[in-house]
Amino acid sequence: MLAPGFAYLNGRIVPWDDARVHVFSPVAKYGIGVFEGIRGYWNENVQQLYLFRVAEHLERYAFSQKAMRFDLPISSDKLIEALVHLCRANAFRTTVHIRMMAFIDGLGELGAKGPVGTAITALPREANRQSVEGASAQISSWMRMPDNVMPARIKCNANYHNARLAMMQAQLDGYDIAFLLNSRGKLAEAPAMCVFMVRDGQLITPSGTNDILESITRQTVIQLAREYLGVDTVERDVDRTELILAQEVFYCGTGAEITPVTSIDRMVVGSGQPGPITRQLIEIYRAIATGTNTAHESWRTPVF
Ligand SMILES: Cc1ncc(COP(=O)(O)O)c(C=O)c1O
Repeated sequence: MLAPGFAYLNGRIVPWDDARVHVFSPVAKYGIGVFEGIRGYWNENVQQLYLFRVAEHLERYAFSQKAMRFDLPISSDKLIEALVHLCRANAFRTTVHIRMMAFIDGLGELGAKGPVGTAITALPREANRQSVEGASAQISSWMRMPDNVMPARIKCNANYHNARLAMMQAQLDGYDIAFLLNSRGKLAEAPAMCVFMVRDGQLITPSGTNDILESITRQTVIQLAREYLGVDTVERDVDRTELILAQEVFYCGTGAEITPVTSIDRMVVGSGQPGPITRQLIEIYRAIATGTNTAHESWRTPVF
């Protein structure tokens, strides 16, 4: 990884190598942090970097801090300022992935609520190979942790150990991605992505009470599918065998964007190629996020 020049730590833009926390801090000891992944999309025509759906990310970031009982978070205005300053300092002229974390710093123990630190990093990141070719998925033997154990709805660092176990198993077994079922045996989500399928022309995705993160990309897909394709989405329980019956399956998230799934447990999905609804959604999503389609202006925050 080629590190950019600067990161943001506790109110200051600092050289990348200076963005450090102490090993005794609660975030290092117990993973007590919450975070957001945000994309900035470079638009070559207008020479602009657009941060996508920042307001929604900041709303979820504040919710995660409240749910984890952090001391008062810093204001959204200050955070937007920090995001913009960091992207400007690094002079990014490419699509980037930003990671913004609120964490418990200092010398506290498990119950510490502060001091709350803020760290922001941003790295160039283009689309994944699988978003063009399609991905192979494994139904994981790891279970998505339930809401009354570790709530998937809260984007806290420690949740990602569940995702890590599933992801590592899938990769060792030769798959691109893992799909996790929840404690009721219904489809939940993938590590850092939500899942959709197409059955008989309709989009279907696990509802918000299936141990998923309330994903901003998921909500964007639902809205764009209705607006541009006239396709409605049903949010409900999804059985694992329905994924094999489906004509199309894809997963989505800020990092993964929209990625087609062409096989599940080595069984081909649909034609074995990215399907027409998925392909159209990929194009519409990209056009809106980069601003080549100027609709939904309020979703894009310009950096320059
Ligand atoms: C567990 C989990 N599910 C789903 C998603 C997708 O959410 P979003 O579209 O808001 O990035 C993410 C990524 O943030 C995630 O970490």
